[in-house]
Amino acid sequence: MVLNKKYYIDKIRTLAREKNAVIFAHYYTYPEIQEIADFIGDSLALAQQATRVQANILVMCGVHFMGETMKILCPDKKVLIPDMAAGCSLADSCKAADLAAFKAQHPDHLVISYVNTTAEVKALTDIVVTSSNAKKIVDQLPNDAKIIFGPDHNLGSYINSVTGRNMVLWNGACHVHSRFSLEALLQLKKENPGVEVLAHPECKAPILAQSDVIGSTKALLEHTIQSPAKRFIIATESGILFEMQRACPDKEFIPVPPEVTEGVGCSCNECEYMRMNTLEKVYNCLLNESPEITVPDEIAQKAVISIQKMLQMS
Ligand code: 13P
Ligand code: SF4
Repeated sequence: MVLNKKYYIDKIRTLAREKNAVIFAHYYTYPEIQEIADFIGDSLALAQQATRVQANILVMCGVHFMGETMKILCPDKKVLIPDMAAGCSLADSCKAADLAAFKAQHPDHLVISYVNTTAEVKALTDIVVTSSNAKKIVDQLPNDAKIIFGPDHNLGSYINSVTGRNMVLWNGACHVHSRFSLEALLQLKKENPGVEVLAHPECKAPILAQSDVIGSTKALLEHTIQSPAKRFIIATESGILFEMQRACPDKEFIPVPPEVTEGVGCSCNECEYMRMNTLEKVYNCLLNESPEITVPDEIAQKAVISIQKMLQMS
C-alpha cells in the first residue's frame, strides 16, 4: 500500500516525540526529508549539533559515515540511519588497509582525512577535516609539516593551492562532484554573462578554475543568502538547491549538469546514496529502532581523537 506524505510526516513527528529522538538531515537529501528534520546542515554542522542535543535517539538522514561520526561523538546515544546501504563513493575510495600501507611508506607524515571516510580510516588519522574547515586546520599546522591528505584528490589539490602546501594526496574522488561537465559550465557562463559560479571543492580543478566562489555546502548557501546577486550557477549536488530556494525565494539557481557518459550511471547531479533516505524508511527506522549504527570500541576510541581534534581546531 502506498501511503501519502502527510501520513508519514505525522507518524514520524509523533514517534520522534514519544521516543525522544532528534532527526538530522544533510542538505543533499530529498526536500521532504529536510522538511521533517530538526536540524539540516553540512557534515561539520551535523556532527557539532549531535553533541549538543539532549536525546535518546539520533536519526541521521544522510550517509553511513555521517552516522558513524555521530555514534563516535555520542557513544551513549542510539544512532539510526534509514538505509544501511547509504554509503559514499569517496569513503569507499580509501580502504583502511590501503591507508595503513600508505602511512607505512610515509612514516614521518601527519594524516589528515576528510570526514567522508569510514571509522576505521578515522582511527588511522591524526586530524579529520570537512570542506568547511580544511583550510583553517591546515593553516594551523607548522609550515614544514609533512602531511598526507585523503581521500579526496580534488579537495586536497584545492587546499594545496590555497595554502601553498605540498601535501601528499590520496587519489580518491566523489562520483557526483567529479562528473560535472566543463563544456556545459562554459556554455552556461556564456548564456548568463556576469552570473557567479559557486562550486564545492570536491569538483575537478577545471570546474574550480571557472568558479567565483569555492566552498562547503554551507559556505555556498551562506553566500547565496548574503550576496545581493539574484542569479547563481551552482556546481554541487542539487539537493542544496532546495535550501537555497527556501532561504532566497526571489533568487534563481542554475545547476551545472553532469557529463553524460553513455550507458553509465545516473545522468543527474544527485547523490543516489543521499536519496536512499525516504519518509517511509525514516518512519520504519524510528518504529523498529533499526538499522542502528555501531562502531567497535577499539576503533571508536581511536577515531574520536582525530574527530575531537577537528572540533577543537574548527
Ligand atoms: P559537506 O561537508 O559540504 O557537507 O559535504 C559532504 C559531502 O558529502 C559532499 O559531497
Ligand atoms: Fe559521498 Fe559524493 Fe554522495 Fe557526498 S555526494 S555523500 S561525497 S558520494
